[in-house]
Amino acid sequence: MPEPIGWPDDPDSPPPLPASSLMVEDGLELLAPIEGDARELFVTVDENREYLREWLPWLDDVNSVDDELAMIRRIRDYKNFNWVYLIREYGDLVGVVSLNWVDWDNRSFGLGYWVSESSSGRGIITKSCKRVIEHCFVDLKLHRSVIEVAADNHPSRAVAERLGLRLEGISKDREWLYDRFTDSVMFAITAPEWNIQSGAN
Ligand SMILES: CC(C)(COP(=O)(O)OP(=O)(O)OC[C@H]1O[C@@H](n2cnc3c(N)ncnc32)[C@H](O)[C@@H]1OP(=O)(O)O)[C@@H](O)C(=O)NCCC(=O)NCCS
Repeated sequence: MPEPIGWPDDPDSPPPLPASSLMVEDGLELLAPIEGDARELFVTVDENREYLREWLPWLDDVNSVDDELAMIRRIRDYKNFNWVYLIREYGDLVGVVSLNWVDWDNRSFGLGYWVSESSSGRGIITKSCKRVIEHCFVDLKLHRSVIEVAADNHPSRAVAERLGLRLEGISKDREWLYDRFTDSVMFAITAPEWNIQSGAN
């Protein structure tokens, strides 16, 4: 990973690439996908299609291994400043945490995530997000972490709250979800707030 040199003195310094792997804890690892992961990723998404479709807008765009392959190729060069980590628990693919966007000019980033239904309810997402946020703040020198959640998605709101993000507001009809608009809730935390919170724990 290139060093995030220069900032804030040199605002034109190149954005560093996120790490290709991050250890969360023994047996729980985050890995940037390689092309060989496309089939397993598609199978996992397909098995959880109905469960994920309740709150994620992209399920109808993922219909084949090739669709996952295209996504993996898209994120690999980081050209659009988005990044994906597969969550592997003792090698098994159980979910995804992604940097949906990185606004490098303002040093902020938006997180997205999902976990397979059978692996939910065990803290895997909260722990994985915590690791990614730490990486973004400490290694990439980003400043503000954002999670946007459909207002009625209570399990996802609970993740943001458990991580200590602050509720900043509600956006009316923010997202089109197949057949309806949904309101979304924005949660955020800045690096200094995160450091205070981490020091307190
Ligand atoms: C949103 C979603 C990722 C939340 O998953 P989750 O498994 O509830 O979240 P976590 O991994 O943080 O697990 C939290 C649960 O594990 C429990 N837990 C156990 N050990 C834990 C630990 N060490 N740390 C945190 N939570 C722990 C918590 O008490 C909580 O249980 P509860 O649901 O009974 O209250 C999941 O519901 C999902 O994938 N939904 C579909 C896609 C989606 O909505 N994505 C988000 C779009 S914004």
